[in-house]
Amino acid sequence: MRRVLVVFGTRPEAIKLAPVIKEFGKYPERFQCITCVTAQHRQMLDQVLNLFEIEPDHDLNIMQKNQTPKEALVNALNGLEDVYAGEKSEIVLVQGDTTTTLAASLAAFYQRIKIGHIEAGLRTGDKYNPFPEEINRRLTSHLADFHFVPTVRARDNLLKEGIKEKKIFLTGNTVIDALLEVAGRDYEFKDTRLRELKGKVILVTAHRRESFGQPLENLCLALKEIAQKTEAVEIVYPVHLNPRVQQTVYPLLDGVPNIHLLEPLDYEPFVHLMKKSWLILTDSGGIQEEAPSLGKPVLVTRKVTERPEAVEAGTAKVIGTDKETIIENIHLLLQDESVYRRMSRAINPYGDGRAAERIVRQLESA
Ligand code: UD1
Ligand code: UDP
Repeated sequence: MRRVLVVFGTRPEAIKLAPVIKEFGKYPERFQCITCVTAQHRQMLDQVLNLFEIEPDHDLNIMQKNQTPKEALVNALNGLEDVYAGEKSEIVLVQGDTTTTLAASLAAFYQRIKIGHIEAGLRTGDKYNPFPEEINRRLTSHLADFHFVPTVRARDNLLKEGIKEKKIFLTGNTVIDALLEVAGRDYEFKDTRLRELKGKVILVTAHRRESFGQPLENLCLALKEIAQKTEAVEIVYPVHLNPRVQQTVYPLLDGVPNIHLLEPLDYEPFVHLMKKSWLILTDSGGIQEEAPSLGKPVLVTRKVTERPEAVEAGTAKVIGTDKETIIENIHLLLQDESVYRRMSRAINPYGDGRAAERIVRQLESA
């Protein structure tokens, strides 16, 4: 029996680890899976825990309003020390590139516990983009013992950094496991605004720290202009709970006709809203992975992406955060049907829905 401690803290980690936790549950005679949430996020994490019926064994409840990465890191490290000492697991599993990912890896290293890193190997090569995630994931790679990479490119990134090939396992991204399961459910929107959407739905999300200030303002001003000049579109924008995001978005966009500002949506309505969308504008990592599987074009409002596979396949485009460039790119898709069609092919560069199965199988022998 292997004791595995799964540590996570934010919405995207929870979505991407839910399939892995479920998979461990199929083999109670081989694995004891213990879950610990730092709760770096609170409401947005709890939404996912409820949906996937995960009841954490430990909850550090660290989130503070407007926290800095340093505050979250220190609080997570302090809490994790005791959990690790008490649980004495053989391995700690972490996901992605958040503050929780780094804290959980570092705390495990200090106690000489083996570390498995899911979604390893993503890189932009740019230290400050995304900030601080690019450094979080690089550091995590050098703390980890097993690396579960979603794509061949991610594996190559690790090989270039000197990580040993026999410690790298190509699995696909578990987000596709979660997505396919939830997208396959019958769902009817409870929010009448979502039920009654007509026309071309543009779904927007934005929360990256490097976009705070002018870049996020530019995005909002571009959306306002598009909404005012194009009757055929309806913009739906679930606004991230980070106060830095809310304080920019609401004053600029609240009350603009054709723009619906919402609270962050639960994963199930969000997935069904992606399915209903005509176009997605986002700086999110997870959404860049999900949208191609649903055949939805993505305009990425960032300088660079660590997920170039969909860009190379032609279904995602990195457009930056200049107001006029954002408007031009939306106009191009509105005006040229053939460009839109090319960007809306369904492709699956990030996984086939069986990543969790491969990860758990590898952990049996790791
Ligand atoms: C973090 C991750 C980022 C991920 C994002 C997902 C790091 C360094 N970054 O972003 O990679 O893409 O989460 O959304 O870990 N808040 C709430 N309730 C919540 C969640 C957040 O009120 O459920 C507010 C709080 O005021 C909190 C703030 O948002 O202080 C920022 O949360 P935080 O986890 O620090 O966000 P990021 O670091 O920006
Ligand atoms: N998501 C959600 N509700 C929302 C916005 C996003 O459930 O209102 C989901 C989305 O489908 C994806 C994940 O949250 O799986 C992405 O989270 P986020 O963009 O916060 O973080 P990132 O992926 O950039 O780390």
